[in-house]
Amino acid sequence: MNFELKPLSLVEAASEKCDALLVLVADAYKPAKDGFSALVGRALKDGDAHTKAGKTLALYKPALAQAARVVIAGVGDGSAKQVRSGVAAALASVRSDKLKHVVLAFASPTSDAAVRASVAAVAEGTYSFTTTKSKSEPRTLQTVLLAASNAAECKATFERAVAIVSGVELAKEWGNRPANHATPTHLGQAAQALAKHAKISCEVLGPKEVAKLGMGAFMAVAQGSDEPLRFIVLKYSGAAKSVAPTVLVGKGITFDSGGISIKPAPEMDEMKFDMCGAASVLGTFRTLAELKPAINVIGLIPSCENLLNGRAVKPGDVVTSMSGQTIEILNTDAEGRLVLCDALTYAERFKPRAVVDIATLTGACVVALGNVRSGLFSPNAALAEALGTAGDVAQDLCWQMPLDDEYAEGLKTHFADMANVAGRAGGAISAAKYLQKFADKYPWAHLDIAGTAWKSGAMKGATGRPVGLLVEYLLGTASAASTATSK
Ligand code: BES
Ligand code: MN
Ligand code: ZN
Repeated sequence: MNFELKPLSLVEAASEKCDALLVLVADAYKPAKDGFSALVGRALKDGDAHTKAGKTLALYKPALAQAARVVIAGVGDGSAKQVRSGVAAALASVRSDKLKHVVLAFASPTSDAAVRASVAAVAEGTYSFTTTKSKSEPRTLQTVLLAASNAAECKATFERAVAIVSGVELAKEWGNRPANHATPTHLGQAAQALAKHAKISCEVLGPKEVAKLGMGAFMAVAQGSDEPLRFIVLKYSGAAKSVAPTVLVGKGITFDSGGISIKPAPEMDEMKFDMCGAASVLGTFRTLAELKPAINVIGLIPSCENLLNGRAVKPGDVVTSMSGQTIEILNTDAEGRLVLCDALTYAERFKPRAVVDIATLTGACVVALGNVRSGLFSPNAALAEALGTAGDVAQDLCWQMPLDDEYAEGLKTHFADMANVAGRAGGAISAAKYLQKFADKYPWAHLDIAGTAWKSGAMKGATGRPVGLLVEYLLGTASAASTATSK
């Protein structure tokens, strides 16, 4: 799918050849003098079309447009949220599986937020997962032309939004693949493939190297499976070596059965999504490859299955993490923090400016925040603020949660430096407190994406979140660095 942005008025957009013309009308719309604009104005005036987001009027072969299908779609106040729902509704009102060429025309001058939102909504509305279907129905859409009279003003945002789509779609692809098509080895290969892009390199460690590093917590999770673990190290070098990198750490549990503390059967299939943190790191690197910003980023992915066999780790077992701290594994289903803690220790060697881990970590976070916002945890106010703002910009929302030390009380045990679980209450926070014990050497934040990384039910599938948030955040660090040096 190819996106293009052109400076076209509404009447010029209407004379573009395409399968569907989606006319986006905001509350502020004032029709120009030409016939097509007058038609849109008339439809609004007569109450057949509405500027309210989500309302659509579909026309077939109207004389004044080149397209066979024309949809007049309300986008309300033109905000990101309303544009997103307006574009989604417009696409839903035509058979998007029949479209090859679509024109999205902003009836009035548009904004960065609206451009960003419409690119994301077109991608979202036409996505199709094909990898494991024998008769695949791939996306038919080939070209999407965004037409806006003030297109030039939105060019940089547009390019960023298009690059984010390719990252989001890579994250969706890996998230959606079933666990037998997305093993730790496969994830390692996906990371190696990214290293074909300029400025990206990749190293994949196996069981021997990980043992040598002393990653006892990570190894404890992996030992219950026949599938060998992988520790993936991705590097994006867009700035001088002297520039401290941001490290992203993605939880890469390719299937989480719970281990000996086994999960109940219903919905267990959804634990193939337990590597969506890892997928978001891969997706973010895909976007970096396209945008080539002047920053340095490291991606770390501890990846294994959480299964159970005769060698599986047992409740009560004590293991030694790479940090030297010992952990009593009271619940083998709290495995995400076990693989992440060793990756957080490994991150120290990069002397990072910040470390952000991304994990489908707790069911408790789903209870707390549902499927709208990811949980954000950080003792560093500036880092939390930057991530929160990035989420708002990308419309990939998160919400800051507390980290009071009292929440760590439940992790105390007589038999090791800490246990891997506390009580049920505040479970997303005690998980974050556990991670914090391994992240005291650099500014650190944790994103719990258990509720946001995928959708359940009829629309089951990975969302590609939080690639948008991560990319906006990382690009923000580039401008912060350049303003710092220019001062
Ligand atoms: N991957 C799960 C978290 C999860 C559960 C995400 C359901 C999305 C939906 C994680 O490894 C896990 O099992 N966490 C446990 C922790 C508990 C044992 C303290 C949980 O949330 O139940
Ligand atoms: Mn688990
Ligand atoms: Zn898990």
